[in-house]
Amino acid sequence: MSPNDSYQDKEDILSKTSIKEYIDKNWSECKKSGSGYKVLCPFHDDKSPSMHINDEKGLYHCFVCKAGGNLVQFIKEFKNLTYPETLEEISNFFNIKIPKKNYKPIGEIGLDKKMFDFNKKISLYFKRCLSDEQANLKPIKYLKSRGFSSQDIEENSLGFAPDSWDSITKMVQDKKELLNIALSLGLIIKKDGKEDFFDFFRNRIIFPIKNRQGNILGFAGRTIGDDKAKYINSKESEIFSKRKVLYGLGNFNKLNGRKPKYIFIVEGYTDVLMMNHFGLYNVVATMGTALTLEHANEIKKISNKVIICYDSDAAGIDSSFKNIDPLFQFGIEIFTLRLEDGLDPCSYLEKFGMDNFIQRAKKSNLIIDEYINYLKDKLIEKDLSINEVVDNFVSKIRFVQDYIQRDEFINKFSSSFSISKRKIESIIDNEFVKSEISSQKHNSNRLLGPEDIILKVFLEFIDSRDIGIMNKCSKIFNNIFHKEIIDIIKINPEAEASGVIGSIEEDATSSMLSDLVFTPFDIPNDRQLRGKLILDCIKRIELDSIKDLKRLINLRLSKDGELTDKDEKELLNELKDLIDREKQLQ
Ligand code: GTP
Ligand code: MN
Repeated sequence: MSPNDSYQDKEDILSKTSIKEYIDKNWSECKKSGSGYKVLCPFHDDKSPSMHINDEKGLYHCFVCKAGGNLVQFIKEFKNLTYPETLEEISNFFNIKIPKKNYKPIGEIGLDKKMFDFNKKISLYFKRCLSDEQANLKPIKYLKSRGFSSQDIEENSLGFAPDSWDSITKMVQDKKELLNIALSLGLIIKKDGKEDFFDFFRNRIIFPIKNRQGNILGFAGRTIGDDKAKYINSKESEIFSKRKVLYGLGNFNKLNGRKPKYIFIVEGYTDVLMMNHFGLYNVVATMGTALTLEHANEIKKISNKVIICYDSDAAGIDSSFKNIDPLFQFGIEIFTLRLEDGLDPCSYLEKFGMDNFIQRAKKSNLIIDEYINYLKDKLIEKDLSINEVVDNFVSKIRFVQDYIQRDEFINKFSSSFSISKRKIESIIDNEFVKSEISSQKHNSNRLLGPEDIILKVFLEFIDSRDIGIMNKCSKIFNNIFHKEIIDIIKINPEAEASGVIGSIEEDATSSMLSDLVFTPFDIPNDRQLRGKLILDCIKRIELDSIKDLKRLINLRLSKDGELTDKDEKELLNELKDLIDREKQLQ
């Protein structure tokens, strides 16, 4: 819900409605299952009901595509409505009055729309500049020489920012509101300290970046002059965040609702476009940044498998390994396709054509096999010690949600390095919660860690929300999503779970929250026992972090000859302190 509404308003609305009733009448009938209901998930191609409904709490969660939230979020996504439209829908369907003030589009929604509109207008301008053949032969020639057709250019709204300092500046300089929008979108820049402006994109081919709804979030510009920065992007704004945006999603509608078996992740805009050119639309690229959890969350909504096809140089290989963590955290299976001769998918497709490319893709490798080989090389070349190799492997594998997969990976690793499977498992166990807390298996196939358990207690039992304990948790929690949720609860200590979820802006965070609510775990009814459970979990988190620190120090100590005596003494002292603290806690 909107950050402008008070919790009272939100909970008032939610207490008068039933999410089950809405879904029954507007989508499909919810069937009783355990203490709640199950229904086909409308947000992915669902074969058997995988969306869980808790009508009492007013929440939904899908363990497959990770969609989750309260009634407002359901309707917004399901019907693709704005917030005020959603409230209107609720008011009509349940025949309840919602205070008028909630109907006013809040500032930010209004502003989003204005920003989209402005980007659209500027995109049309860039398009005109490109198609103005006479004046701009060079950019058109460049695109054609890269193998793009007029149709590609048209379909992707490619454009050209002229080699001028003030084309856009002139359009807005006498209109205060537009000028501010252009500034906040980074299309114009303010000269140091003066009321003087200039255009950001100059002499560049323009790639508009669209979301799945087709709104333009920002632009990427490739130089065709001798500018040192090959690519530049729009700056971060209310509507554009590189952490979330995937280039290529804007063309997913071309899949005509077909659910792709896998999604290609490539490095560059031109790779996406060339694959599109050959009719492959299941492809995305980040904006030249590493893949984040938010990206993985977007991908998971569409497919459970990815093929990473990065440039076949050392940098491409390294960055493909960096993608393992966020993708594994969402249970996504990862394959890699390495093209020869240092080619990227764009140039490979141009040279060898699509059939050849698809054949190669079908034979792509599991990333874990490549990763094990990569660690082997590092060991042989003495870049990593065996302890570091194990640490590296464990730190990746701990994110694998699926037990069978994890087991298979451990088998492969243990036979490649002749380390007993039991040894690796015990190291992994140390990373997780001890058995008394983690003995539960459940629907999501996910072990609840100590941070999860604490949050679940706070979410479900308002009387357990001790401010002192919550402050402590803010400090010791490692995961950004956990931290975000605890901070929201701290500000609104009376809010029910559905109210907390309503004020989360990030999809990934609200998905994690609904996952927590729907993942079964026996929380004691007795308040004191709950308190004890929380303290146990806090102890676990602290012990784990001590263990991590100890491992780091031991690693540094094991590097003979690289440490001065003074450093070594300091490290040994630190280690001693840690061991003392550990003893105190145990
Ligand atoms: P072309 O050279 O135009 O074919 O582009 P490419 O996509 O093959 O570029 P490259 O493989 O060099 O880089 C891959 C991706 O990294 C690009 O699509 C950008 O997202 C990003 N990138 C490359 N160079 C730069 C740069 O100078 N600045 C920024 N911000 N991103 C870059
Ligand atoms: Mn490239």
